[in-house]
Amino acid sequence: MKLPSRLIPFVFLAALGCQSHSTAPAPTAADPTPLKEAARGLFRVGAAINAGQITGRDAVGSRLLATHFDSITAENNMKWMHIGPAPDRFNFDLPDRFVALGERLGVQVIGHTLVWHSQAPKWLFHDADGSEVSREELLRRLRHHVATVVGRYKGRVAGWDVVNEAIRDEDGTLRTDKPWYRILGEEAVFAAFEAAHQADPDAELYYNDYGLENPVKRAGVLKLIAAIRARGLRIDGIGSQGHYGLDWPLLSEIDASLVDFAQAGLKVMYTELDVTVLPRPENYFGAEISKIYKLAPELDPYRAGMPADKQAELAKRYADIFAIFAKHRESITRVTFWGIHDRMSWLNNWPIRGRTDYALLFDRAGEPKPAFHAVVEALQAAQKP
Ligand code: XIL
Repeated sequence: MKLPSRLIPFVFLAALGCQSHSTAPAPTAADPTPLKEAARGLFRVGAAINAGQITGRDAVGSRLLATHFDSITAENNMKWMHIGPAPDRFNFDLPDRFVALGERLGVQVIGHTLVWHSQAPKWLFHDADGSEVSREELLRRLRHHVATVVGRYKGRVAGWDVVNEAIRDEDGTLRTDKPWYRILGEEAVFAAFEAAHQADPDAELYYNDYGLENPVKRAGVLKLIAAIRARGLRIDGIGSQGHYGLDWPLLSEIDASLVDFAQAGLKVMYTELDVTVLPRPENYFGAEISKIYKLAPELDPYRAGMPADKQAELAKRYADIFAIFAKHRESITRVTFWGIHDRMSWLNNWPIRGRTDYALLFDRAGEPKPAFHAVVEALQAAQKP
């Protein structure tokens, strides 16, 4: 049996029957290297979590969370429709527990997200009589929401995805087809950053989006960030979601995006990393979260399990992605996965409901996949002088 060299001392001690003096169980040869340890000195490794991991109902997820990650993001519970379901009604139960869990684990806590066109409550853009809300009233609602939510966790949430997905894929312009930007234009973005900074002057503030490997979209986002800065507002970094596939985007495109971010002097976070192995229905890229496509058997090929060659392909893809991340360690401060294990991944239900995807590093039983080991190896290789 060939053991990784760092495990040999543990195996040796175990063979001698040595007892550890601490109360925690001593690591065994079977324990995989914690991701956060493999990435130490490079960037933090985070996970998005939901009610299952916040309450501990998902014991497998909770165990992996405590072992491997040093940052957590609220996958859903801080989104406006959940935290602010009705005018002046706030739902702080899960968000409070989410933040308290982060403190208990001693990890970085990230708030997601304050202004987004998706998962916004119906009431937000209308008056009581059903007509569209006025510019003044929408600004008031935005400022009140941001002040209340960010203010509640002042000093406890390290950073906020202040604005999510404001820019169009096709031409890099503001999404003026969405109420936020039809009614308020860029002011929606400026007001959100301003209010967030007022509510917690120490919190980091980010702009978050997907598809930033597309140069046209990226240029639009960088222009918006320049406008935020020109207003004298605080913005600390850019969140690149990192929802990827096995063959898109190209590695060279990821690399080029990182070069541009560094040039703009931006701190970069990969905020929602996952790699779908499933076929994409036509015309889906950039589709609304609410647009769900029909399930056809050929679009769900691995219901009964994923073949070894596909596992290997996923592992190689993850290794390649992390090698690029490691190369850009000077700009990247955090890499967050959108979930922990495959059973909890949103990709099982988007853009088609009820599929079986394999997008993360741990399988449905919480076991590390070949992709996990490939990532650890890529990180360890990057650690070598
Ligand atoms: C997703 C969640 O993972 C799902 O559970 C939810 O049903 C829809 O939203 N971009 C984002 C995230 O910024 O908030 C989205 O999260 C995934 C795409």
